[in-house]
Amino acid sequence: MNAPIPTGTVPRHIAVIMDGNGRWAARRKRPRAIGHRAGARTVNLCIDFCLERGVGVLTLFAFSSENWGRPDEEVGALMKLFLGALDREVGELHRRGVRLRFIGERGRFSDAIRGRMAAAERLTAGNTRLTLAVAASYGGRQDIAQAARSLAEDVAAGRLRPDQIDEAALGARVALADLPAPDLFIRTGGDLRISNFLLWQLAYTELWFTETLWPELGVAELEQALQVYASRERRFGLTGEQIAFAQDAPPGEGHP
Ligand code: IPE
Ligand code: IPE
Ligand code: MG
Repeated sequence: MNAPIPTGTVPRHIAVIMDGNGRWAARRKRPRAIGHRAGARTVNLCIDFCLERGVGVLTLFAFSSENWGRPDEEVGALMKLFLGALDREVGELHRRGVRLRFIGERGRFSDAIRGRMAAAERLTAGNTRLTLAVAASYGGRQDIAQAARSLAEDVAAGRLRPDQIDEAALGARVALADLPAPDLFIRTGGDLRISNFLLWQLAYTELWFTETLWPELGVAELEQALQVYASRERRFGLTGEQIAFAQDAPPGEGHP
C-alpha cells in the first residue's frame, strides 16, 4: 500500500501537458480527432482529482501557439471540441466551485469561442475551490514577450523607469501572475520536453513525466505523481541543510 502523503505536501498548483491523443488514436487506427475526444474525458478525471485532493490551481495545456500549424482538419476538430466542451461543461464546473481562466492569445479564436470564454470567466469568477486555467493558443515565449511589451509601453508613457524593471516587475505581467507558480508539472505521452509551456513560471517546478498517453491516464498514476512530488526535496538553490533548518524553524524565519 502507498504511504499517506503528509499534509502540506499536496501541490498548490499542478500544470499539465496533456500529450498523446494523436498516438492513442493512431494505435486504434482511428482519426486523431477521436483521440482528442477521448482525451477530454481525462480532463474531467483530472479536475475531479484536484478537487478531491485540495489542489488549488490546475493549469492544462490544451492548445499551443504552434498547434495552429497542424492540418486544417485537426485544428477544426479541436475548435469544435473546444466549443462543445465550453457549452457542456461550464455549468457543472460552476456548480462544483471551479473558477475558470483562459490564458493565451484569445484574438486567434472565433467570436463564438471568445464569447464563451469570457462568459465562463464571468460566471465562475467568484468560485474558490479550484482555479482551472486553460492554456489555449498559449506559448511561453509569447507570454514573456507580451510582458516585455507591456513594460516597454509603461516606460514609453513615463509611468516606469528602466531601472525599475526587475524579475518582480516582469513576473507580475506574465500569465497567472496572481497565482502561486506551479509546484508540480506533469507531462503524459513519454516526451521529455516543455514544448513552450509556462517557461517563466516553471523555473522551480518539480517535473514528472509518464509514458502513458493522455486518454489512458488514471487516478492511480496521478496519486503516484503526488507521491513522487511529496518525496522530493525542493532546495530553490539553497543547501539541503538550509532547507531542513527552515522547515524546523517557526514560520517567517525560513527560506523564501
Ligand atoms: C495533445 O495530443 C493534444 C494537443 C496538442 C492538442 P497530441 O495531438 O499532440 O498527440 P500526439 O503527441 O500526436 O500523440
Ligand atoms: C504540447 O504538445 C501542446 C499541448 C499538449 C497542447 P505537442 O504535441 O504540441 O508538443 P510537441 O510538438 O511534441 O513538442
Ligand atoms: Mg503531441
